[in-house]
Amino acid sequence: MSEHRGALTENLGTIFADPAAYADPVSWHEKAARLRREAPISKVELDDYPPFWAITRHADVMEIERNPEIFTNEPIPALATKADRERNSANAAQMKSLVQMDGEEHKAHRNIVNDWFKPGNVKQMQARVDELAKYYVDRMAELGGRCDFARDIAMHYPLQVILSILGLPEEDYGKMLKLTQELFGAEDPDIGRAGEDQTVLEVMLDFVGYFTELAADRRAHPGTDLASVIANAELDGAPLPDMDVFGFYLIIATAGHDTTSNSIAGGLLALIENPDQLELLQAEPELIDGAADELIRYVSPVKHFVRTCRAPFTLRDVTFQPDDITLLSYASANRDEEVFEDPFRLDVTRPNASSHLAFGFGRHFCLGAHLARMEIRSFFKELLGRLDHVELAGEPTFVHSRLVSGPKTLPIAYELG
Ligand code: HEM
Repeated sequence: MSEHRGALTENLGTIFADPAAYADPVSWHEKAARLRREAPISKVELDDYPPFWAITRHADVMEIERNPEIFTNEPIPALATKADRERNSANAAQMKSLVQMDGEEHKAHRNIVNDWFKPGNVKQMQARVDELAKYYVDRMAELGGRCDFARDIAMHYPLQVILSILGLPEEDYGKMLKLTQELFGAEDPDIGRAGEDQTVLEVMLDFVGYFTELAADRRAHPGTDLASVIANAELDGAPLPDMDVFGFYLIIATAGHDTTSNSIAGGLLALIENPDQLELLQAEPELIDGAADELIRYVSPVKHFVRTCRAPFTLRDVTFQPDDITLLSYASANRDEEVFEDPFRLDVTRPNASSHLAFGFGRHFCLGAHLARMEIRSFFKELLGRLDHVELAGEPTFVHSRLVSGPKTLPIAYELG
């Protein structure tokens, strides 16, 4: 590595590790753009972290995900401090979910829910998703022309969709909100309290109890909901072990929540900041089908995942060695100038918007992608059809997280017809 490149990485590599760096998207993207230009695969060495390679270009992220035998999700698929990695390896009894699995184990588990998430099946949810979209736009009307769109609307709608796909009653909403907020908003001081070990333990225990009852109920009274599919699944001719069932419930509940909320809040912010694109979508509502992917590309709520190298592999001028950690920066890849023309521009008619990597790529490609697109389309169709005016009513703030981030608060003023 040249001296220049070493110094560059030292200055810029923190953007991947510091949760607060993602809370300033403009500055984050300036730094990522420099890395893409000058050091697209760069080694980052920070005090509390094992060294890792930051992968910032679209083609390189795809190449790594195209080789899952060489780049595995085990032992840990996200960036973690040295201390967290030790805790993780000491905790043998932890629940495992799809993102922690590789090879045959991953394939067998993914097959259990794969059919449920196919477009034909997800379509069955359309009427309920539309109903929820209308409910939340009505809620905006009730709020009288001003709200914190992130907290009052975007945070709730996708969680209600998850409740519906799992077949959970409305009264369990508060409980599910607590789960996704307290366990997975942990890096942001305003959201999670899970930094306190006792809280994590309590919330987890609470959920083991809740999920045990849910699984028992769906075994006794199976339906077509996803909770029933999982509870009654078999693996190698035997019922799915309880810990696997819980791992599934947990990933469905969490993976589908703040990712979609952030896409909707970040999407509205992008449209407010680009009024010509908002007008275009309102004039031609059918554009929302393609525009959903452009909004997801633009927001890229999942910032990264990590893969660990198992055998020497050369990419550009770097040869990764076994145990090397590669950080796949989806947020950077989705602004790659080699793939997206004028990538910092929001363009609701962008012809190749769906080439984005916000849903990842390859074997772990987001299972909920069709559902997420459906939710985003449905919400914006409903909102834009009724929206006469919208503007910012204050400065938005962003979630401090290096895994999933987007607007934390989005004060807006609006008129709905
Ligand atoms: C805009 C919203 C969403 C975004 C941006 C997103 C993004 C992602 C990403 C980046 C991955 C990892 C892909 C990889 O490693 O290559 C992933 C995996 C996953 N997502 Fe999503 N997701 C979203 C919504 C959802 C929804 C709504 C659900 C379900 C309700 C869901 C369920 C999952 C599951 C189960 C996995 C694990 C797949 C595996 O490891 O095989 N996601 N998602």
